[in-house]
Amino acid sequence: MERNLLLKYSQKYGTPIYIYDGNKIIARYNELYKYITWPKLKILYAMKANYNIGILKLLRTHKAYLDTVSPAEVFLALKLGFNKEDLLFTSNNITDDEMHEVKKTGVLFNIGALSSLEKFGAAYPGSKVCIRFNPDVYAGEHKHVQTAGSVTKFGVLLSEANQVYEISQKYKLKIVGLHEHTGSGIGETAKVYESMTNLLEIANPKLFPDLEFVDFGGGFKVSYDRQTKKINYSNFGKKISSIFSKFCKVYGKELYMYFEPGKYVVAESGYLVIEVNTLKNNRGRLIAGTNSGFNHLIRPLLYGSFHHIENLSNPTGKFYDYDICGNLCETGDCFAEQRSIREIRESDKLVIKNAGAYCYSMGSIYNLRAMPSELLVMNGTEKLITKKPTNEELAQSIFSSSKHQ
Ligand code: LLP
Repeated sequence: MERNLLLKYSQKYGTPIYIYDGNKIIARYNELYKYITWPKLKILYAMKANYNIGILKLLRTHKAYLDTVSPAEVFLALKLGFNKEDLLFTSNNITDDEMHEVKKTGVLFNIGALSSLEKFGAAYPGSKVCIRFNPDVYAGEHKHVQTAGSVTKFGVLLSEANQVYEISQKYKLKIVGLHEHTGSGIGETAKVYESMTNLLEIANPKLFPDLEFVDFGGGFKVSYDRQTKKINYSNFGKKISSIFSKFCKVYGKELYMYFEPGKYVVAESGYLVIEVNTLKNNRGRLIAGTNSGFNHLIRPLLYGSFHHIENLSNPTGKFYDYDICGNLCETGDCFAEQRSIREIRESDKLVIKNAGAYCYSMGSIYNLRAMPSELLVMNGTEKLITKKPTNEELAQSIFSSSKHQ
């Protein structure tokens, strides 16, 4: 989004504010259908990346499917008008009560533990189900976001496929899908091919005669900095379609192929605009203090992630190196250290880019600092989807929700 628009919206609605470009989201979602040429394809947006209801409604009008990971995500999606058939629920260490509450909705479960499958089968014999396997390949841009391989809590081991079969026989479960997810921000496409191949090796009609789809997870990489080489998703799409096509011939049926991208669909659409209120020169080290913090965008602190930062208010200023810090009472509360940015003055507005995925959705009100407002812009029309509460309102909401006033 252009600098002038970001400035205009942040002046109108105040800072800190998340601004999302709806057109970019839809373009990203749709382009995956162009890249991946397999005709029976479903792209399930991983709503954990950003559950903003404006974004979800927009995706619904563009006929998107959703990957959900908690009962509340399922309920929110259904409230917004998604059909239960459009959702997959990837359960992860859920309680029995949660299993029952989601099962009532009729959404398909994706189960990644033998004991959970056993419980599910005993409670709901004859149901359809999808099984999440650990494909023995891990990938992703940080160890916290690698979700397969030898050290992970996710998925059933490939070597346990026979046990999955036995449980399914015992409870007459119909295994309609197989699933794997190797990690987030996968830089090496070879890892995807390898994980697909590993999963497809066990996907034989003897063990899994009722398959309707195979889901290869999310993890499509977004370039956060300019150095990272962009992946040629067109080549990638052709290659995976060819792997899958060969598999389907052997399996004896044309199955659906699912993917579940979160980051790829929304990361680049998001901008967090913040304001500088304090400048310091600590023995030559320039520190810009802002009205945001890691409670609004935790990726740099949690994963060492790089997010571009630009000074919207001084587009032609000279470059200096700054620490860009927040207003929380913690030393780690910095978005960037010694980053080259055009000269910053107090009251300048900065934009943090690629802030659409896992930024607002991983936010909190730590230090009792409210989450920012969120604005969605589509075809030049803006809609304020969430409004930042005032400090007084935030304090009141904590006070009112307490049982011990
Ligand atoms: N499917 C499953 C089963 C997942 O666990 C995930 C992400 C996705 C799909 C979507 O992955 P994506 O396409 O967004 O990479 N908070 C981290 C990312 C954590 C992802 C966890 N699982 C970050 O900010 O980088």
